[in-house]
Amino acid sequence: MNVLVVYESRTGNTRRAALLMADAFEAAGHTTTVCPTMDVDLKVAADADLVVVGTWTDGLVLFGHRPGGAGHLVKGLPTLWDKPTYAFVTYAIRPGGVLRKLNALLASKGADVKGALELHRRHLETDAPDFVDGVLQSVAAAAR
Ligand SMILES: Cc1cc2nc3c(=O)[nH]c(=O)nc-3n(C[C@H](O)[C@H](O)[C@H](O)COP(=O)(O)O)c2cc1C
Repeated sequence: MNVLVVYESRTGNTRRAALLMADAFEAAGHTTTVCPTMDVDLKVAADADLVVVGTWTDGLVLFGHRPGGAGHLVKGLPTLWDKPTYAFVTYAIRPGGVLRKLNALLASKGADVKGALELHRRHLETDAPDFVDGVLQSVAAAAR
């Protein structure tokens, strides 16, 4: 498969998660491109069989959680019609309802969101490859 991983990152955690995911997709034999939201390669996006979008949790810790850099996501993501899409967020303490809001944002871009996960910023080395395993299992199950 051709996989596109798009990330929005302020302090580097989500970027690191995206790169770890790319390593895991590549290790499983999939051609993978990683792009920041404001520099998405449209040709790669058009050719992608699978899209992963990640961002960070922005909020007031206990409430008001929303996808970090939502403006960039809206502006930078191409329309994702017919692309199976998986989403993730990184967080520090409490992600609240951020995934629900990220899924809604991606749906507004035409994405078919198949799954989403919150990744604690301290556990990216283990949780990012696990996320990829889950995505690949989900894709295989959908193809059966
Ligand atoms: C302005 C701001 C607000 C944040 N709000 C929350 C929050 O409400 N809950 C939480 O768990 N983490 C919160 N965080 C932590 C980030 O979501 C977390 O560190 C994330 O991994 C940052 O990703 P990045 O390094 O890719 O920017 C906040 C960080 C910032 C800078």
